[in-house]
Amino acid sequence: MEARTARGNLKVTYRVYVTSNEVPEKALEIMRKVAEVRVNDKYGTPAREVLLREVADVDGLYCNITEKIDSELLAAGKRLKIVASMSVGFDHIDLDEATRRGILATHTPGVLTEAVADETFGLMLAIARRLVEADQYVRDGSWKLKWSPMLLVGRDVYGKTLGIYGLGRIGIAVARRAKGFGMKVIYYDAIRNEEAERALGIEFRPKDRVIRESDFLSVHVPLTPETRNSISTQEFKMMKNTAYVINTARGGVVDEKALIEALRAGTIAGAALDVFEREPVESDNPLLKMKNVVLAPHLASGSIESRTAMAVLAANNLVAGLSGQTPPNLINRQVLQRRG
Ligand code: DGY
Repeated sequence: MEARTARGNLKVTYRVYVTSNEVPEKALEIMRKVAEVRVNDKYGTPAREVLLREVADVDGLYCNITEKIDSELLAAGKRLKIVASMSVGFDHIDLDEATRRGILATHTPGVLTEAVADETFGLMLAIARRLVEADQYVRDGSWKLKWSPMLLVGRDVYGKTLGIYGLGRIGIAVARRAKGFGMKVIYYDAIRNEEAERALGIEFRPKDRVIRESDFLSVHVPLTPETRNSISTQEFKMMKNTAYVINTARGGVVDEKALIEALRAGTIAGAALDVFEREPVESDNPLLKMKNVVLAPHLASGSIESRTAMAVLAANNLVAGLSGQTPPNLINRQVLQRRG
């Protein structure tokens, strides 16, 4: 889009569409410096036909994990130069297609690491010490006897073995916290990280040994075709029946049907889940009726500090992309070769 400045010089102005009306003003201001910014005027993700229409005339798309950035959408974005997602995960973006079309795709790593690790620990403590059940017990008036020896007893976290499945930034931040809880930390990742092993005193194990030996198995791998359902019936059978699964990564990594069966059968002790196969969770999902689970609505990165930082980082990525620079958090680097 071209316009004339007050002095009559030619100026290039870009158009950007922002899919959520909850994006902090600070992030919008950053984008308004270089672009005309249109924000979804309704709460929530835009309907698909709205998104397809809105993307048609913009140079930049600022999105969330709730939008499917697939080939149809990328094709509809005739002028699209960049898709900036306010998320670290990018399984909602068809990267091959974006690259083929010369469209940059960015994400927001780093700024949410500690928030996600905090929530992971919160979930671990909540499920092991039955904190959600305990809260409910007090609120609904069930608490009659001042103290009783075995009321709502759970299991220790301190001193137990934590298995980390996926030792990226978040896995490492969880391992650091675990050391403060006197835990033995073992991990599996497709790429071994000996530096982290030395620095944190953690141990690499093959995946099946992590699964067998963990008291808490915490999932931190991205969702890819290789990791989809990579914790399923066979893995639950290998786990201790006193063990818990914590998932703050992506629902698709843990086979939910197999998990529900394992929880029902007592194959494992419990699960604390921030993510699900279908989000929001449907009202007939059996997990909603189970006592040995703690559930959260995909909010592991949900601290005001972290969400604001994510929003700002996504905006900076978008502005860099529009201004012809390489965005700091470019995912599909191959696109640079295509663009020449
Ligand atoms: C992400 O960033 O990928 C989360 O799932 C949303 O915070």
